[in-house]
Amino acid sequence: MRMRRLKWAADFIANSEVNVHEPETYKGTWRKLLNKEHIHVEIGTGKGDYWIGMSKLYPELGWIGIEKQESVAALALRKKETFDEHARFIYGDAANIDAWFAPKEIDVIHLNFSDPWPKNRNKKRRLSNERFLDKYHQILSDDGQIIMKTDNRKLFEYSIIEFQNFGFVLEEIFLDFRSEEHDEDVISEYERKFMEEGPIYRAVWKKGGK
Ligand SMILES: C[S@@+](CC[C@H](N)C(=O)[O-])C[C@H]1O[C@@H](n2cnc3c(N)ncnc32)[C@H](O)[C@@H]1O
Repeated sequence: MRMRRLKWAADFIANSEVNVHEPETYKGTWRKLLNKEHIHVEIGTGKGDYWIGMSKLYPELGWIGIEKQESVAALALRKKETFDEHARFIYGDAANIDAWFAPKEIDVIHLNFSDPWPKNRNKKRRLSNERFLDKYHQILSDDGQIIMKTDNRKLFEYSIIEFQNFGFVLEEIFLDFRSEEHDEDVISEYERKFMEEGPIYRAVWKKGGK
């Protein structure tokens, strides 16, 4: 997602009580901070519709949104009008995720419409590249899951192989997720844009051996 830099973004993030300013200091204590038994993390929230919507739909769970672009993060934080103990945000690059979360601290990781980085030379930037999977594997609980949605068939195909090679076990797959009602799942900004144009792919993986 490319967007014009917002001048107010840095101050807005600095003053936000929803944003967790030094996430590494909470490593190992997120369940306590959010006062929840199970923690879900969305990586690459964009403007926040999914993170905010899911935290409203499932208030019994902890919800942490992560976004690395300053202006986009500020828009997501501004959209989150209320402070809820169970919904927090990290403005930062998920490449550092293993510095923020302790081993087995997270129950579910959500990846929605992640940047596809189509050129092979950029594949390390994909959020489903083995570089990230290694970190996800560490922070996920023993029966932890990863849930991915995308409109990008090539990214979906790549991810299936990458997860498989890493020992994640495919539990559920949809090749046209929005052809049926799915009230249990919130539509993200990108999803709203792309669901009229073609199928939405969705898969759920369970952490495997490795
Ligand atoms: C294509 S947008 C999708 C936004 C939203 N998930 C949706 O479905 O509408 C991908 C977002 O992921 C963010 N992102 C990409 N790599 C990231 C990383 N390593 N850490 C945190 N955010 C990242 C980008 O800045 C961008 O806002």
